[in-house]
Amino acid sequence: MESSSHHSEEDLKQSADRALKERLHKAFSPAMPINDVDAFYGRYEELERLSEAIDEPGMHIMLYGERGIGKTSLANVIFARDPSLHFIKITCTEREGFTNLWRHILTQLKSNIGKSFFSQSGHTKKTNLPAAAFENFKAHIDTALTDSERKSLSTETIIKILHPLPKKLVIVLDEFDVAAKQETVSQLFAGLIKTFSDRLPQITLLFVGIANNSTELIAEHPSLERCFSQIMLKRMNMEEMSDLLTGCLLKVKLTTDGEVKTLLLTLAAGFPYYVHMLGKYAAESALTHRYTVITKANLKASVEKAIRNTFASIVTAYKKATQPNINFPPRAKWFYSEVLEAAAQFKPQNDFIHTPEHLTEPSNEEICFSAKELLPFISIKAAAFDDQAGQYPKKVSLALSQLTRSSRGTVLRKIPRLTSHTPVQYQFENPLLRAFILLKLYLK
Ligand SMILES: Nc1ncnc2c1ncn2[C@@H]1O[C@H](COP(=O)(O)OP(=O)(O)OP(=O)(O)O)[C@@H](O)[C@H]1O
Ligand SMILES: [Mg+2]
Repeated sequence: MESSSHHSEEDLKQSADRALKERLHKAFSPAMPINDVDAFYGRYEELERLSEAIDEPGMHIMLYGERGIGKTSLANVIFARDPSLHFIKITCTEREGFTNLWRHILTQLKSNIGKSFFSQSGHTKKTNLPAAAFENFKAHIDTALTDSERKSLSTETIIKILHPLPKKLVIVLDEFDVAAKQETVSQLFAGLIKTFSDRLPQITLLFVGIANNSTELIAEHPSLERCFSQIMLKRMNMEEMSDLLTGCLLKVKLTTDGEVKTLLLTLAAGFPYYVHMLGKYAAESALTHRYTVITKANLKASVEKAIRNTFASIVTAYKKATQPNINFPPRAKWFYSEVLEAAAQFKPQNDFIHTPEHLTEPSNEEICFSAKELLPFISIKAAAFDDQAGQYPKKVSLALSQLTRSSRGTVLRKIPRLTSHTPVQYQFENPLLRAFILLKLYLK
């Protein structure tokens, strides 16, 4: 009798846990791009610019920005918002040359053209798109080319296939940065854009990829200026992040007070990915304690879990970067982590931030720093190197330069000097690493 009531209590607890997990999954999606208009926040200006560029006949688009900033979500939402917009989407992979990318696109055209966003993204939702309009076109794809034309697809053969397209179509090439690593791909697409713009105005190519600068993805070409719209997706500002967090929390009937919210958003550093992740774990902690408001303790629990579950690659890079140097005196053993922590917290214009509470808007550009600028803020002072007096500033320069090497995980990148008088400057190679280090500091 006793054991059976014990069992049912266990069962109840387990099913309550499961129900909680399910609610959290529905509200927060740190691991998946957004597909749904209702779960998408902010980005008004970018949505507007993207829509306008898509509407413009002969215009092609590059949507670029940092890793995890929300590029795929933004592109998804454009089609979810307007189900009458025809599109197909491929995700580029490495080693796919120009011809293979186009084969990939043609396969997608045959299987998905005329289907709505929801059926393409795996959702089941009835579509009212006139798929029939494309039937003749699909048949034409099969017969348009000779076998030899099919072997190596040239711009001319691609135009021959696409020319009879009956309606406006957007072709999305997501993760184009991966394909653009091959210089020929980037050059061939640059040529293609110009030709498409002149001869196939009903087609829009939408390139999506990680880059600091659009020319990293598409070779520079003066004639592209008028037919190529470049949209950089920046980090989210406080307001966008705040709307996102509030929206997600509302779905699990939670709120935050001003201070905890500001802290969480500051740690998220403009990345919607971190807002989802920190929000989810903080909500989990609060709901487990049956709170209705997220407390500082919940946030702390969330940060701990976020660090455990964050991208494995970031943790690996961080460990590699900060491994102790056995040749340093014992007190300077953790010199590399001190240097990286100073770099993560560094803000230009002497506006050095000691605690996350004082951070305000996330910066939209990866901050640059020189050895000299970091010097005053590294807590292991010259004294730790007392066996080599006077060598300390050089040690900082050396550490920064070593953090750009693969032996220390290539966590920093050297910025080319403008003149021989300007000091050597560095940036974080992966901006998420900065956020990761700030999270670690918060726990200290
Ligand atoms: N506007 C938004 N509103 C709500 N959540 C968002 C928004 N944009 C992005 N996200 C969330 O942020 C995370 C990253 O988004 P997404 O995958 O779209 O970024 P990405 O730039 O395509 O990343 P990658 O560079 O890895 O391809 C996801 O968890 C997604 O759910
Ligand atoms: Mg993406």
